[in-house]
Amino acid sequence: MCGIFGLIQRSGDVAPTILEGLSRLEYRGYDSTGVATIDNGILKIRKDAGKIKDVADRLHIAEMKGSIGIGHTRWATHGAPNMINAHPHTDQHGKIAVIHNGVIENFLELKQELLDKGHNFVSKTDTEVIPHLIEEEMKGEVGLAEATLRSLRRIKGSYAVCVLSSLEPNKIVCARLESPLVLGVSDGATYCASDAPAIRPYTNKVVYLRNGELATIDVNGYKIVKVADGSVVERAPEEITWSIEMAEKQDFPHYMLKEIYEQPISLRNSLRLQEKYMDLLTAFLDRGKEVFLVSAGTSQHSCIAGSYIFSQIARLTTYPVVSSEFVERYGSTVGIDSIILAVSQSGETYDTLKAVDHSRMRAATVLGLTNTVGSTLTRVSRAYLIQQSGPEIGVAATKTFTAQVLVLAQLALRLAKLRGKLSQDELDEYGANLHKIPDLVETVLETTHERVKEIAAREKDSRLFLFLGRGISSATAMEGRLKLLEITYVPSLAYPAGESKHGPISIIEKDTSCVFVCPRGETHAEIIGSIMEMKARGARIISICEEEDTSIIGLSDEVIEMPKSIPELLSPVPYIVPLQLLAYELAILKKLDPDKPRNLAKSVTVP
Ligand code: M6R
Repeated sequence: MCGIFGLIQRSGDVAPTILEGLSRLEYRGYDSTGVATIDNGILKIRKDAGKIKDVADRLHIAEMKGSIGIGHTRWATHGAPNMINAHPHTDQHGKIAVIHNGVIENFLELKQELLDKGHNFVSKTDTEVIPHLIEEEMKGEVGLAEATLRSLRRIKGSYAVCVLSSLEPNKIVCARLESPLVLGVSDGATYCASDAPAIRPYTNKVVYLRNGELATIDVNGYKIVKVADGSVVERAPEEITWSIEMAEKQDFPHYMLKEIYEQPISLRNSLRLQEKYMDLLTAFLDRGKEVFLVSAGTSQHSCIAGSYIFSQIARLTTYPVVSSEFVERYGSTVGIDSIILAVSQSGETYDTLKAVDHSRMRAATVLGLTNTVGSTLTRVSRAYLIQQSGPEIGVAATKTFTAQVLVLAQLALRLAKLRGKLSQDELDEYGANLHKIPDLVETVLETTHERVKEIAAREKDSRLFLFLGRGISSATAMEGRLKLLEITYVPSLAYPAGESKHGPISIIEKDTSCVFVCPRGETHAEIIGSIMEMKARGARIISICEEEDTSIIGLSDEVIEMPKSIPELLSPVPYIVPLQLLAYELAILKKLDPDKPRNLAKSVTVP
């Protein structure tokens, strides 16, 4: 996720406004900053790694001249956060500048084609292919908008882009596919930005671009066409009525809720991983004598879910280990044949990095899965994958869990293929199911939130929760419990349901709240037995199960019904969503701030 902002105005320099706009988009990314303007017909760019204010002060960006410009705040997905990889990127002659938010899946093919035509690239980004493609198209003597249109037709993936060129210095061309982009119009100035709050201080008239649309903006307004066929789209501006304060969290009262709702988008991005890195990690996983999944908190729960998927799909045994325990538990046996897959949203968690350092000293192979390009984990890993969920600001990790599980599931699929563990039909079916997950999560958000609110209202005074699941759902239960614990402070336990009779059942008394995660699948019959055990002791049963699952519904006091046909092995992703919402709604009812849980920090970088 990155933030983009463009502005053309009748007179005066745009750079100070672009910086203001970018600062309102900083929640979308903050590892590099860059601005391009056209000053006396010449394209000028200032950019570097670092937060907006630091880079702006260092490079005196506010003093840049020109009444047209574009700016970018980056959250790296391809290429480390440094000056070269910061946006804007240019063509070979420094005449076309592009900023981009999204992921270009086929950039390696496009880059190779351009390299064969003699283009030179300077960055490691996927974005850089765009100005080069436009440059190629403009050789055919077409204008900037048409050249951009033609270039975008060749791109697979997602984008919101703004293009500025000294060859046509009175316009900005912008377009979107899956990444957001909005235009703003006022007298004598036209804006484009990743979201409306960035524009709101200057105008309340906005036009939301839709997927597959391209707009050309100038001081007089805008023209929209469809990328696919160039046909013109008529759309009048709409007025926005909300305030800046409401807008920062995009109308959501808290970052946690905003991030829960972002999951369909973040998951679509997590399905756009670079093939060659997936292959590299898969090859390492295949080679290891033993594979440890090392992580903390939510990332550990993703690893527990991942371990079920690896063993069932790829027949690979993996050991999920809490990172703070790794060195004492396995430190003296880990060695040259061991693979450590360290999973960490931040890539900076102290305990995880300590386990990684120890493993490297003993010549083990360290692989990484993180959300943060340029983090310590990416620097110390032999190979790594980026989960691609964009910045997560809420201390309670939400989109992290779903993204990491989805990435681990993709790795398992690849490994299954490499090892010949699944038939072609099974591989195809599993792959198709993976791609349905973002839409399913969207449906779950639409259909369960109101129900969760009702349940939260009835559970608000519960003094103890027990979360239970069987098989892979035990990971979902653990993650649901962590969410509840960290933002509501209500004592709670989570166990694999079969283990509950070996101890936890002793705490059950009348009206103890018992949350059961019960997708359809191999564990279904057994979870019914576990529900009956708890019900017999007076527990209140709250079940998350498939719609019309009468056997579960008949035993439960409260039910959250989920869409049908979710494969059990992928169920942690959609099934965690109501539990995230339950924790959130209970925190709100208890008048607690879910974004600021006590005693917790987003990234735990201390021993
Ligand atoms: O950045 P990491 O994924 O390494 O962070 C690990 C934990 O600190 C983190 O998941 C923490 O438990 C969250 N607050 C959970 O919501």
